[in-house]
Amino acid sequence: MQDLRDKYIAAIAAATDENALEELRVQAVGKKGEVSLKMRELGKMTPEERQVAGPALNALKDEINSALAGKKSALADAALDERLRTEWLDVTLPSRGRPAGTIHPISQVTEEVSAIFADMGFSVAEGPQIETDWYNFDALNIPSHHPARAEMDTFYTHRAEGDNRPPHVLRTHTSPVQIRSMEAQGAPIRIICPGRVYRADYDQTHTPMFNQVEGLAIDRDISMANLKWVLEQFFSAFFGKDVKTRFRASHFPFTEPSAEVDIQCSWQDGTVKVGEGDDWLEVLGSGMVHPKVLAAANIDPNEYQGFAFGIGIDRIAMLKYGIPDLRAFFDSDLRWLRHYGFSSLDQPTLHGGLSR
Ligand code: DAH
Repeated sequence: MQDLRDKYIAAIAAATDENALEELRVQAVGKKGEVSLKMRELGKMTPEERQVAGPALNALKDEINSALAGKKSALADAALDERLRTEWLDVTLPSRGRPAGTIHPISQVTEEVSAIFADMGFSVAEGPQIETDWYNFDALNIPSHHPARAEMDTFYTHRAEGDNRPPHVLRTHTSPVQIRSMEAQGAPIRIICPGRVYRADYDQTHTPMFNQVEGLAIDRDISMANLKWVLEQFFSAFFGKDVKTRFRASHFPFTEPSAEVDIQCSWQDGTVKVGEGDDWLEVLGSGMVHPKVLAAANIDPNEYQGFAFGIGIDRIAMLKYGIPDLRAFFDSDLRWLRHYGFSSLDQPTLHGGLSR
């Protein structure tokens, strides 16, 4: 028994991993282990012999079991120490920089415009960029052979051969959203509709895709004076200073009377400054919504009237942020985007003065 004890205690102390320990456990105290076999021999002993050998064997079994358990936890502790030594990381290191994108000036300006008009009770409406010619033209009092259709440089979609329906168009302005919104909401209504529009035109001041924001306010006694006030409020909030407007008589098929609106500006060394000086810059078309347009949208023109306007978003973005070339808006040049883009944390609000 003493030999057995010395052999296993030494082997357990020398074991270097859990598998070796398990093997020793099986050899010593497993069902057919050496100590277990000895215990079976107890049956063949005399009672006197058994009285001595029984407790001694039990004690040996206990000693081996506790040596095994002790060694097992010592091995686990050593393994944990080794992991802690190799798997550390320095949580005080500065984190890796992440490249942050920027908000495109058009998106920023659209948000600014929406915030200003929201404050005056306008909600935002949207419509499809691929339109029927009814919404884009007819409902806006632009019949088939009206010269305005030709002037718009419209992109038409292709119809399959034999399909004689009029083709869809890429909307040439945001005005069709007036019709869709009046149809859906009826009157009274106060909305703006920002979005992309398309015309087959390309030079320094024209791109085939650009952005407009439409405005529409219909109620029982809305007048041209309301239009002027709303636009002056808008431009003053947008440019952050008082901006005078000039209304010039004009013609649009969907308004009567119609006016083009200029804002006050000055030219110094080839750069334009809004809200000062005595030059004028055209920024939008507007007027009182034509009775035929109201009727096309199922609103009774004898009961309701109101104004509409359409502003070029790209144009006012260029003016506010000193962007010289329209085409750069849509070039996706990263250097340009980083220079003129806005931080995503820079949310335009009226109380924050929008953006500077
Ligand atoms: N739809 C016109 C355009 O794209 C702009 C416009 C003019 C919109 C007068 C209006 C308006 O709502 O009343 O040139």
